[in-house]
Amino acid sequence: MSDERVPWLRFFATAAKGTEVALRDELREKRFRKVRADRGGVHFEGPIEEGYRACIELSIAVRVLLLLTEMDAPSGEALYEGVREVDFGPFLHPRLTLAVRASCKDSRLTHTQFIAQKTKDAIVDQLRDRLGARPSVDLEDPDVVLSVHLVRDRASLYVDLSGESLHRRGYRTHVEEAPLKETLAAAILRLSGWDRKSPLLDPMCGSGTIAIEAALLAHDVAPGLLRPRHGFERWASHDAGAARRTAELRDAARARIRKEGPLVMGSDVSATALETARRNARATGMNVRFLKRDVRDIEPLRPPGFVVTNPPYGERLEGGPELYEGMAEAFTTRMRWHTVVILAGTPAILRAMRMRPAKEITVFNGPIECRLLTYSMQGD
Ligand SMILES: C[S@@+](CC[C@H](N)C(=O)[O-])C[C@H]1O[C@@H](n2cnc3c(N)ncnc32)[C@H](O)[C@@H]1O
Repeated sequence: MSDERVPWLRFFATAAKGTEVALRDELREKRFRKVRADRGGVHFEGPIEEGYRACIELSIAVRVLLLLTEMDAPSGEALYEGVREVDFGPFLHPRLTLAVRASCKDSRLTHTQFIAQKTKDAIVDQLRDRLGARPSVDLEDPDVVLSVHLVRDRASLYVDLSGESLHRRGYRTHVEEAPLKETLAAAILRLSGWDRKSPLLDPMCGSGTIAIEAALLAHDVAPGLLRPRHGFERWASHDAGAARRTAELRDAARARIRKEGPLVMGSDVSATALETARRNARATGMNVRFLKRDVRDIEPLRPPGFVVTNPPYGERLEGGPELYEGMAEAFTTRMRWHTVVILAGTPAILRAMRMRPAKEITVFNGPIECRLLTYSMQGD
């Protein structure tokens, strides 16, 4: 088939606020095309297989969306009419279930539930008129997820290729308190400037997310390989041909896995956290060393490398000036020549460090505004 006949599609990969640039760089490194960062995510383009590949290969993307249509939607009727013009046959038939997510900003339509309802009505009415039966709604485990975003009365309708959020890699069967999402851990590692060759340690590793994501990155394990299936594999059009092309993408990703990698370690004071971290790492097949140690007793890596960590903060976890002072003292006196990268959820950590970070980036851990602080520890 000539290239002109392959439909050229527009995708949007979503990312946690503040990590869009990291996702843009990841998409470029993995040779996606027409990559452009925006608020909340990154645009890219290509044939449908590029959407499949994004779900399999990207570590920072939270969702991968395919743009179906854009329209002016100043009213519920306009939205309904615009959505009905899309052909939903490739995604849905009456035996499949659907869910619609909606968001809006600076628009006349202000109720997300109403927007989702109108969109769903247009979809099911179209299918009922054409096929005599309609798909039903399932908010728990839908086969097909659609999302509609309204900004200044302009609606964009997407179908979600990922299905469940991509941070659910499948390896984290247990978590400790305040775990980082896997996608955010991957973003932090990229933003840290880690070269994926130097040794790396998370000295407050909790469930082990940063260390496990580091090992996956260093060995070039595509995170989507860990998931049994993605949303697009439940679409009506996912026939034997599409399944074969998906299998080929998985095989190509598997063939790239590197056997050798740098030393990756995690430590924590909590024995139960370490048990969880070990179990999670085992589920990925990655070799991560975990040991019980107080961050204040941290030992330098040989050769010096990267410390990337997310200290406790907030009411539920035992953060506080004493821990931060001790941690800062240990990092500055024991970790010479290392790069220390801290995801700080409180300004108290920056104060305790008593030195200017080489880099400071704002990233959001869910609703919590954090600073990602990078320190280059000097020698004597
Ligand atoms: C915010 S959690 C880390 C969460 C982790 N990034 C994850 O994804 O699960 C902070 C961790 O610091 C650990 N911690 C608290 N005080 C510590 C200390 N003095 N030394 C080492 N670890 C400590 C806690 O046990 C907790 O697991």
